[in-house]
Amino acid sequence: MKECSSWWNWRRCLLEHSADGPKNVLVIDFGGQYSQLIARRVRECRVYSELIPHDTPLAEIHAMKPAGIILSGGPRSVNEPGAPMLDPEIFALGVPILGICYGLQLIAKVKGGRVARTGRAEYGRRTLTISDHGTLFAGLPPELSCWMSHGESVVEAPPGFIVTADSPDMPIAAIADPKAGVYGVQFHPEVRHTDLGLEILKNFLYSICDIPPTWTPVSIIEEAVERIRAQVGDERVVCGLSGGVDSAVAALLVYKAVGDRLTCILVDHGLMRMNEAEQVEDTFRRHFHVPLVHVRAQQRFLSRLSGITDPEQKRKLIGEEFIRTFEEESRRLGKSKFLVQGTIYPDVIESGTRSAAVIKSHHNVGGLPEDVDFELVEPLRMLFKDEVRVVGEELGLPDDMVWRQPFPGPGLAIRIVGEVTEERLEILRKADHLLLEEVKRAGLYRELWQSFAVLPAIRSVGVMGDERTYAYPIVIRAVTSEDAMTADWARLPYDLLEGISQRLINEVPGVNRVVLDISSKPPATIEWE
Ligand code: XMP
Repeated sequence: MKECSSWWNWRRCLLEHSADGPKNVLVIDFGGQYSQLIARRVRECRVYSELIPHDTPLAEIHAMKPAGIILSGGPRSVNEPGAPMLDPEIFALGVPILGICYGLQLIAKVKGGRVARTGRAEYGRRTLTISDHGTLFAGLPPELSCWMSHGESVVEAPPGFIVTADSPDMPIAAIADPKAGVYGVQFHPEVRHTDLGLEILKNFLYSICDIPPTWTPVSIIEEAVERIRAQVGDERVVCGLSGGVDSAVAALLVYKAVGDRLTCILVDHGLMRMNEAEQVEDTFRRHFHVPLVHVRAQQRFLSRLSGITDPEQKRKLIGEEFIRTFEEESRRLGKSKFLVQGTIYPDVIESGTRSAAVIKSHHNVGGLPEDVDFELVEPLRMLFKDEVRVVGEELGLPDDMVWRQPFPGPGLAIRIVGEVTEERLEILRKADHLLLEEVKRAGLYRELWQSFAVLPAIRSVGVMGDERTYAYPIVIRAVTSEDAMTADWARLPYDLLEGISQRLINEVPGVNRVVLDISSKPPATIEWE
């Protein structure tokens, strides 16, 4: 495994992990909104897949030994000068290819067919009529509902290709050259709105590419442990634990690899949820026996935040203070050469294959700066969030940590609109705790991307008993989402809302009103600050 020591080589090892021949699929990203989703769905079919930029040289693709290639959708027109193209030599690799949307149009164009704007764009659900099932559509009914999103269409199939499906506005909705193993579909099988979309992907993976469905995220554990050992040697490692699932799973993998040479540092900035720091300490120190330093820095953070109301300034101060505290603590522990980071695959994709504009500005807030004097250990670089959870479960991480909803680095500070004071923190922490208790009791915690309380900077009049009150409202914020880039407000049942409202008003001193945030993202954001 020595040759797997660098991250790039490790990735090679993952890609070529089988002695019986290649089993992985490369998704070539032409900038489509569902590109990441394609890679995720392929992995859901238990086949290892990676997303690579469309300008990856063919020699590199060849070296990765794919057993199948999927060409993603994209926002451009294949007829536009400068649009991302396909190297025609890709067909000479002898690897099965599936083009989706723009990917289909690329195949059509490169292979001598014709793509044009017909004036009949299709967006949304359409009925697909299959005229030739072949292998790709094997086992499917003659008609199914599929998701379309395109302005141009293939108007002439390339020589040697057969048309295998159509839709009401488009005579060519799918093409195939079965002998060459090249297929194209105009619709999106990766989107849940396409009926049996996963079956189409499975047909491509299992029957056309001949890949057995054997990959699971758990298969990376042993490889990751070997790789961490090779990277770290006899050195010491530190890890910042936040309570989130990514850093927790990364820490456990590193602990499995290097044992007591890992020390976790838990910086409690006083902005965490109720009992959160204690739970993390309990899990790691007492349950897993991982060396852990719990830094109680509440006062330090609170005094820096005193008088600060601007959200970005809060973030900046908390981020700076966090780094300073972490550095002081790791210096006190003695020299560590390595730092564990819970970077996951979507972060890698966003910084590697996308334009910088889409990277979240708060990406690294509460994390560490780029110029720290550490070498990074990032064992989750190739995993999606749901896969990190599977690995966490396998490593024995308790359910409440594995399934914890995302929580921002600056914590409750960005859910308190205006100044963060001890009194306001106390109100929000209690409110948040009650709200989560009720959501969990209703069995909705895992279904929601995030659910939490917000404390606005206003007070309103109420009446309790015979007394007039002038107190804070609490905002209930609950959203569903796949990746936090977009989100919808969750339709919580009235009974649950009533239960939350009653408990917040009766059990949290300083609260006399409860309101519900019914904004989606965009145009709102998930957090209030
Ligand atoms: P927004 O509010 O931008 O949030 O819709 C998207 C996701 O990011 C989380 N978030 C943060 N995470 N530091 C973080 O580590 C931050 O400053 C921060 N701000 C927002 C938010 O909870 C949601 O999951």
